[in-house]
Amino acid sequence: MIWGMDHLLPRPRVSESTPGVFEFVPGSSVSGPAALVDAVRLSLAVLDLRPAEAGADTAAVRVVEDAGLGPEAYEIEITAEGVRIAAGDRAGAFYAGQTLRQLLPAEAYRAAALPGTVWAVPCGRLADAPALSWRGAHLDVARNFLPKREVLRMIDMLALHKLNRLHLHLVDDQGWRVESRAYPLLHEIGSHRDQTTTSYYREEPAFDGVPHGGYYTLTDLAEISAYATARAVTVVPEIDVPGHASAILAAYPEFAARPADTYRVLDRWGISPAILSPLPATVDFLTTVFDEIIGALGDVPYFHIGGDECVLDDWAASAEISAYQEKLGLATPADLHAWFLRRLADVLAERRSRAVVWDEAFVSGMLRQDTVVMPWRGPQVGRRAAAAGHEVVATPVFPMYFDYAEAASAEEPLAIGDTITLADVAAFAPVPSEWTVEERDRVVGVQFQLWSERIPDGRTLDYRAWPRGCAAAEIAWSGAPVSECFTGRLDAHLVRLDAFGVEYRPPAGPRPWQRGGSGWRRHRPGVVDVQEMMRHLHELTQSADSTRPSTSS
Ligand code: ACM
Repeated sequence: MIWGMDHLLPRPRVSESTPGVFEFVPGSSVSGPAALVDAVRLSLAVLDLRPAEAGADTAAVRVVEDAGLGPEAYEIEITAEGVRIAAGDRAGAFYAGQTLRQLLPAEAYRAAALPGTVWAVPCGRLADAPALSWRGAHLDVARNFLPKREVLRMIDMLALHKLNRLHLHLVDDQGWRVESRAYPLLHEIGSHRDQTTTSYYREEPAFDGVPHGGYYTLTDLAEISAYATARAVTVVPEIDVPGHASAILAAYPEFAARPADTYRVLDRWGISPAILSPLPATVDFLTTVFDEIIGALGDVPYFHIGGDECVLDDWAASAEISAYQEKLGLATPADLHAWFLRRLADVLAERRSRAVVWDEAFVSGMLRQDTVVMPWRGPQVGRRAAAAGHEVVATPVFPMYFDYAEAASAEEPLAIGDTITLADVAAFAPVPSEWTVEERDRVVGVQFQLWSERIPDGRTLDYRAWPRGCAAAEIAWSGAPVSECFTGRLDAHLVRLDAFGVEYRPPAGPRPWQRGGSGWRRHRPGVVDVQEMMRHLHELTQSADSTRPSTSS
């Protein structure tokens, strides 16, 4: 079967079919500027296209650079004689290749070319460009570690959906996930725990008795970054501070606000009061760690420093920290929270890296103007951040937290609550029409979050991420809810994902082996309602002490 222009996902801006097909044959070549040729060959690896000899004009695919098209933009013209691509940059050429891959049979998504496949694409013309520059996925590798191969595979998945940011949540109370040569106890002690809770909300704690852990070496991070860059994906590392600090403090308790040797890598979920001290020694420690991560990743245009869900009691109780707060002329621990994150953002700016924060850091105040805000607690706080001049990436719990179940059903695997359906994601408008033009312009993107307390492995990751991620890719590319033809295009796209080997959640519900079963991995519908959660989180953004959460996750 030949896929048509109507089967593309995300939907391109302009596509027109004309009669006929172009067929790639063994030995087909691609010509053009080396970087763009390289990008097209990578997207169409299954075709094993040869780079054309210099000056040859017989190439099957001819690529030209057209700076007038802008970043990530491309045009394709397919005739019976061949394919012409014009791209604004390397990413545009890569995406032109991905679009051609979608026009090929779904076998283009297998790891090897199957003999007998007719590699034909329909004739026609496309002109395409993204509406939003930040089209992201967040992966929490702290709560449950995902080995490097899963991260590389996620990058493949992002690339084929024209998503371009991988936000890696590298530390939380339950684990530290990257080698540190300067502070080796971070990975030696902070990267594993003895067991993990199997209990649900406010139940008596129960545990699985199974050690869990893992971390990426700095060389792994360099590899992940190079792999991502080749696929037009920017890795955004997150070192979430000053809260969520149990794993760091298990390794280096001297950086705690309340020095003690009782810190442990947490074996249960929820928000812990463990918090780093904001004193200069902590800033120096984090600067060293940031330098190691930046050194490994190479170019790090964005570095996430967290700032969410901080319980500031230990700061208020510490005479040394209170004296420091006073010396800085700051009135409250919340001001000190703001000051501390500002200080880290300044450190990153010296390294040509822009800080990204969760919205608590915006509510605390004092952000650098170039800090990017992720309003997870709802669009209202996002609008306030945009009005204050910050770039904003839409990350609201509803409908962008994919750790919520797709259906309020005990057939689902265990989720944090319910529900965020495929249709909810598809209907989401990342750039609200009621905002002012200036506020709307500051919404640079949208991102889905894969918090992993209830995502223990790559199979569950597939289930939770797709096809909601397909809808997210479409709204990120167009900047608006999906169009009415989305369902038909998704049906075709799921055949591609089948060929790629993705264990997505079928839109009609889980396959028998994808259900949660009758034990602790069964979902409990009705315990946590996402709309109630949103109301609660919104109220928190209104309160003065907005860094402090009042429910556990
Ligand atoms: C968050 O969900 N604590 C950002």
